[in-house]
Amino acid sequence: MRDVQRIAIVDPSDLTREPLRNLLLGVETVWLEAECSRYEFFIDVVRQSSPDAVVIALDSDHNKAFQLIQQLTLEFPHTPILAVSGRGDGQSILQALRAGAKEFLTAPIVLEDLLLALQRLRTNRSASDPNIVINGTGRTESLVVSIVGSRGGVGCTSLAVNIGCAMAQDPRYNTALVDLDLALGDADVALDLIPDYTLADVAMNVDRLDMQFLRRSLCKHESGLSLLPHPVQMEDISLIHEEHLGRVIGLLRASYSHLVFDLSKRFTSTDMTAMRMSDIVVLVAQLELTSIRNVVRMLHTMDKEEGLGEKVKIVVNRVGSDEGDITLEKAQETIGKPIYWQIPNDFRAMFGARNAGVPLMTHAPKSKVHQSIVGLTNALCGKTAAEPAKKERRSFFSFR
Ligand SMILES: Nc1ncnc2c1ncn2[C@@H]1O[C@H](COP(=O)(O)OP(=O)(O)OP(=O)(O)O)[C@@H](O)[C@H]1O
Ligand SMILES: [Mg+2]
Repeated sequence: MRDVQRIAIVDPSDLTREPLRNLLLGVETVWLEAECSRYEFFIDVVRQSSPDAVVIALDSDHNKAFQLIQQLTLEFPHTPILAVSGRGDGQSILQALRAGAKEFLTAPIVLEDLLLALQRLRTNRSASDPNIVINGTGRTESLVVSIVGSRGGVGCTSLAVNIGCAMAQDPRYNTALVDLDLALGDADVALDLIPDYTLADVAMNVDRLDMQFLRRSLCKHESGLSLLPHPVQMEDISLIHEEHLGRVIGLLRASYSHLVFDLSKRFTSTDMTAMRMSDIVVLVAQLELTSIRNVVRMLHTMDKEEGLGEKVKIVVNRVGSDEGDITLEKAQETIGKPIYWQIPNDFRAMFGARNAGVPLMTHAPKSKVHQSIVGLTNALCGKTAAEPAKKERRSFFSFR
């Protein structure tokens, strides 16, 4: 699980404190440590509860609130403050920030704004206090990885499912896989899950979406991986617009430390939204003409969009298969970008796992293909190269 952020709030007005509290209670990563209705008492509350961050509503008495912010900043310089006010005028914002607040939100608060502000407070706290290590990995924000293919059947779903399951093995992570191959995706089949809800349910309820509803919509696999599947009915695909997806991804980022997206191969607007919102885009290729040609074309398009091209990591799948008629060196030269990882061909293990509806870690944990995917997962997560599985794998199948 992700580290929980313990928050203390002060707001003398019941009218605004209630909705603020309810909003915070809906965020999985937040633990409401203390709630106070008097500015005068709040400093004692903070002394006793030592929260990770505090939220101060200004509107009951701006002067008292600014004084409190100053006091807290002096006594607890590592405890970041989020100020909230219905008056979003420049003067209030400036005064709050000058007094020592790190963030300012205008009430009524929008959930996404709150989540982003909390994330920044978390980063702020970890940066200012050297004793804090977030998530055990140093990351304060979710890692979002999109898996996109250079042609049909190149191995995207196999990689997405097995990378997701490998990530879910780390107890510090909270991992979800979202099937964005909206028409023909089969991540649910690969994991033998029969979900109650799909992305269509989430999209249909996007206006009243809260964290609890979103979490309930994901289906948990025994590996620990959560899955949000594609719509069951083809006609429901049209319900999912890019702005829905943007909102859903925003909320998922606040709830999960690691997200994996299995994309379609059609460069739809939802695919593009997912790639834009990703930290890493894994472009899966095979060593044959169509695939390598498409990699070049895709990179050409992605490079045109600022920030997208550099996120791409090329992963060559099925290395060693009979179908491969291009050498790695030639592929790399044609693509003009290094190959990040190579996954060996292992039809028996892969096909067997897919047929059984289980990940490789269950079906063929000792197989080289499984070991290679674990190594890739570790590399994507920024884990050190010193891990034994990776060393062994790199000597045969992998180079970066
Ligand atoms: N490394 C591998 N070795 C052997 N077979 C593999 C490997 N990776 C994937 N496969 C096989 O290739 C086939 C296609 O894989 P998969 O469904 O993951 O591809 P995809 O890119 O998601 O396809 P689609 O375009 O249908 O979404 C499957 O039968 C799978 O078992
Ligand atoms: Mg697929």
